[in-house]
Amino acid sequence: MISTRSFAKQLLGFALATAFAGSSYAADPLKIGLVLPMSGPFAAYGKQIEHGVKLYLATNGDTIAGRKIELVLKDDSPGTAGDVSKRLAQELVIKDKVDILAGFGLTPSAFAVAPVATEAKKPMVVMNAATSAITTKSPYIVRTSMTLPQNSAPIATWAARSGIKNVFVLIADYGPGYDAGGQFRKTFTAAGGKVVDEVRVPVNNPDYGPFLQRIKDAKPDAVFLFLPPGAGTVAFMKGFAERGLAQSGIKLISTGDLTDEDILDALGDSALGLVTSFHYSADHKSPENQAYVAAYAKAYPKDRPNFMSVGGYDGMRLIADVLKKTGGSADAEKFVAAAKGMKWVSPRGPVMIDPATRDVVQTIYIRKVERVDGKLQNVEFDKIADVKDPGKE
Ligand code: PHB
Repeated sequence: MISTRSFAKQLLGFALATAFAGSSYAADPLKIGLVLPMSGPFAAYGKQIEHGVKLYLATNGDTIAGRKIELVLKDDSPGTAGDVSKRLAQELVIKDKVDILAGFGLTPSAFAVAPVATEAKKPMVVMNAATSAITTKSPYIVRTSMTLPQNSAPIATWAARSGIKNVFVLIADYGPGYDAGGQFRKTFTAAGGKVVDEVRVPVNNPDYGPFLQRIKDAKPDAVFLFLPPGAGTVAFMKGFAERGLAQSGIKLISTGDLTDEDILDALGDSALGLVTSFHYSADHKSPENQAYVAAYAKAYPKDRPNFMSVGGYDGMRLIADVLKKTGGSADAEKFVAAAKGMKWVSPRGPVMIDPATRDVVQTIYIRKVERVDGKLQNVEFDKIADVKDPGKE
């Protein structure tokens, strides 16, 4: 028999649950809409980021601040068509009623979804896309990856110090390429170096032949490049060797996107000796990274963890830490306020969310590709601590 009192209590509970439905009622599951390229030329980005997110939940538990985390994954292949990403993000908000938007492999995807996050008032956690300006496109964006200027300045300084004087710049013709090339030019020329030429190549399936010939004719000391890692990078490296550029003594310098662990084995011995600057190496020597690499190898034995997986892992960690602070609320204003200034030790090293830019402040390492125990690795040999995004200074 139900007493009047307990019935009244039940009614109150129902009223409260209804009032809080869709906002922060503690018993609701928390839905994260992941927008990622899962097929097409950049499918490896989606795979790595998804691996990172899932590994965090598998290692740390998938109920946070009383709310069970549910992932809703949408494939925005090829990842470079903003209209596709935008439509999927709108679907996630309207049909799937997600609380948080996350993922974003490539810049066009993040740029296109930023206004959706603003209008729907949803936190948007960018786990890879790395054009500096992305975080300025919505007050609800927090990024857990990096920016291209952040990684391009250190390699420019290293090149100038290493006696490289004339550099040819080759960049993919979109945001991250402009950011990488622009920051490299700025830092390198300020240190006394000279950029002798610059070419912009299509993001998808370019024929590198004519560009490689132009570089060969210009005879620079080095080529600085940014290409989104994938089959294109492998083709570029092959052409660089086959057309005799490496043999003629032209060096290659880049951000670590070039020697990302997901494509490093495909690059093979042509990558040996390459010096790059980056925020993550699977070879990073720390207990946090050793645990990460071991857990990753166990969960995904066919793959190697790369920076994108760490962007996903840290992105999920950020979401978890924020929810613990807000008592399970994913309200966009509260989410961003809680994320600002947050610090933790990532597999990459110590990180902080810059309260001014909502980007990561982190250590950038200078690394060289070496064979370690039979495996190609980015071996860190120098570092600069607490690097902010110079793209917004
Ligand atoms: C991007 O499109 O923002 C992007 C893609 C690949 C990278 C870095 C940035 O390695």
